[in-house]
Amino acid sequence: MISIRSATAMIKKLLVLLLAVAFLLSATPAQASPNEARKVILDVDPGADDAMAILLALNSPELDVRALTVVAGNVVVGQGVENALKMVSLAGRCDIPVARGAEKPLEQKLTTAEFFHGKNGLGNADLPAAACKVDARPAADLIVELVNRYPREITLVPVGPLTNIALALKKDPSIATKVKKVVLMGGSIAGGNATAVAEANIYNDPEAALAVFEAGWPLTMVGLNVTERTLFTRAELGQLAKEKGQQARFATAVLTFLVDLAEKLGGEGTPMHDPLAVGAVIDRTLIVIRDMRVDIETRGEYTRGETVASRHNCSDRRELRGDHYAVVGIETVQPNVHVAVESDGARFNQLFLARLRGK
Ligand code: RIB
Ligand code: CA
Repeated sequence: MISIRSATAMIKKLLVLLLAVAFLLSATPAQASPNEARKVILDVDPGADDAMAILLALNSPELDVRALTVVAGNVVVGQGVENALKMVSLAGRCDIPVARGAEKPLEQKLTTAEFFHGKNGLGNADLPAAACKVDARPAADLIVELVNRYPREITLVPVGPLTNIALALKKDPSIATKVKKVVLMGGSIAGGNATAVAEANIYNDPEAALAVFEAGWPLTMVGLNVTERTLFTRAELGQLAKEKGQQARFATAVLTFLVDLAEKLGGEGTPMHDPLAVGAVIDRTLIVIRDMRVDIETRGEYTRGETVASRHNCSDRRELRGDHYAVVGIETVQPNVHVAVESDGARFNQLFLARLRGK
């Protein structure tokens, strides 16, 4: 028979134990479990390949898409917002906020690219009118709000000009220490597409790119040197065309426009620029990276918008010797970017097709 005194003592011990456990749990920061979906914000200029990137993200359980923020780029921002709203409506995801961002680059005029993306920016593919409504918050505000709400959990995936990201940094520089990482489609270490050396997203807003590449956050650059080797071909299009779901049929229409155009321009398939950046967040093994110092050229007559990568992270060290300089050694430079140097295009395209199967 347990006396009242000893029962009281046991209850007191139990209460102390429970309080200690409660404190420990509260003190331990919430850590996403390894299998928990990764929170992402896609910053887009939709844009035909942006649209494929959005479809891939919305149909991948590894990703928890917390927002689509729209920036002027391939199309004017109003058209981009309309396209993004149609995309989340198509996927039945009005829970994902779509926020309107910058109307133009920080310092130069906007350059749109309907030639490559169709008059409506979606390969002239039709979509039903959007059921979802635009979020009231400007894009930069929403990025800052979400990154502060989920410190060290948000992956930013910019796949257009970097204007919104630069504006978010300007609004709250501390996001550079709170973002889990940035994985962007942009730049190149093997020549440009907008110009001989500049890739379109960087070319469209070099000043914004400079701010993003100098912010000091973990930055992965998925550039043309890997996306131009990740070609979606007529054969893969044929596989996609067998799918009867609304999202797959929309993707087939958009990718038919892109493959037709690519072949007209002498290519063998359409480069999956933006979708590969999303793919790299879903499965990091789809790309191989090398850490490099990457500077953004903002002044060159022929090179404005170039991502100037130091492949070996060093340069000559020179000293003045009378009427000339002499190389006396090398100077190392600190890498600031994880540069994608290889990609598994075939495996990526099969991932893309698998995610749209039955959708
Ligand atoms: O250079 C390719 C990039 O420019 C892609 O993001 C494409 O959508 C365009 O924005
Ligand atoms: Ca884009």
